[in-house]
Amino acid sequence: MLCLGIETSCDETALALVRDGKCVESVLATQMDVHALFGGVVPEIASREHYRFLGALYDELMRRTGLTLADVDVVAVTRGPGLLGALLVGVAFAKGLSLAGNKPLIAVNHLHAHLLAVGLEHELLYPLLGLLVSGGHTHIYRVDAPESLELLGHTLDDAAGEACDKFAKMLGLPYPGGVLLDRLAQRGTADAHLFPRPYTHVDNLDFSFSGLKSAVLNYINHAKMTGEEICVPDLAASFQNAVVESLVSRAIMAAKEYGYDKLAIAGGVASNSALREGMKAACEKEGIRFYHPSPIYCTDNAAMIGAAAYYEYQKGARSGWDLNAVPNLKLGER
Ligand code: KG4
Ligand code: ZN
Repeated sequence: MLCLGIETSCDETALALVRDGKCVESVLATQMDVHALFGGVVPEIASREHYRFLGALYDELMRRTGLTLADVDVVAVTRGPGLLGALLVGVAFAKGLSLAGNKPLIAVNHLHAHLLAVGLEHELLYPLLGLLVSGGHTHIYRVDAPESLELLGHTLDDAAGEACDKFAKMLGLPYPGGVLLDRLAQRGTADAHLFPRPYTHVDNLDFSFSGLKSAVLNYINHAKMTGEEICVPDLAASFQNAVVESLVSRAIMAAKEYGYDKLAIAGGVASNSALREGMKAACEKEGIRFYHPSPIYCTDNAAMIGAAAYYEYQKGARSGWDLNAVPNLKLGER
């Protein structure tokens, strides 16, 4: 089954052709540079950029694969969560293609798609534990089957990606700072005692990153007041270490508590090199199999939308012409 996936929930315009859950070809236009000028995503600009790029990207995808709309079995699109205007552009485009080609339309939950992204490259055996770490989410799920998810814990304040972006902003780095933090930290040496390990003293599966953010701010302010020189790569490594330890300790705790021997990470922060290394080492120690997507399938992409639609279609899900975007869509809601 050939699914055309369409993703426009934030600042990446992406389309992909996915056959039976595996990516055939994908195209993507990022708006990162445009939004970097404003220090964050400007919703109105995001919508206009999606509108500007979608048609050309669709043509490029078809040119590269030599396929046409007639070859597509299902048109799938992200309906939420995300920015309302941005989502609406994708939903309208998908409805147009679905109508023109007389193809079933499938609405996909962006969070669900992130969690299934690891299946694009690995044959997964369920059940497994899923850790979704992105700009808006830091959530742990039991994933007993591709369509069966249960939330076990989540962040009480900032998401991990949001915390990384805010940290980068404090250092004057451009948006989105997560990937720059990753690169900087690789050149630094972490001081394990500089910052607290957020929320690791409690025995539930929730996260909190706002205290860590304040600790960094206090550190920077103190250094400014005393004229102490800050070694930015060391600071980045220390901050990143604290975030990674918090994520790894919760995920391992959840896997042990629920008896899972497989763990998968997903979302933009899942491409962080320290998180991948830290989680791999911890999983090896505990005898847990660790899966992570390639970086292109961690950040927003359309292959994961096509893959999620493949499962949704088999379950019998179909959307009508009344399909609408839902900016605050929760997992479990279509
Ligand atoms: O999944 P994603 O592309 O979009 C959302 O659905 O949020 O995640 C974007 C987030 C941003 O906060 C970005 O800074 C962060 O993922 N990110 C990273 C890295 N690459 C992306 N954070 C840390 N290290 C990275 N290598
Ligand atoms: Zn995302």
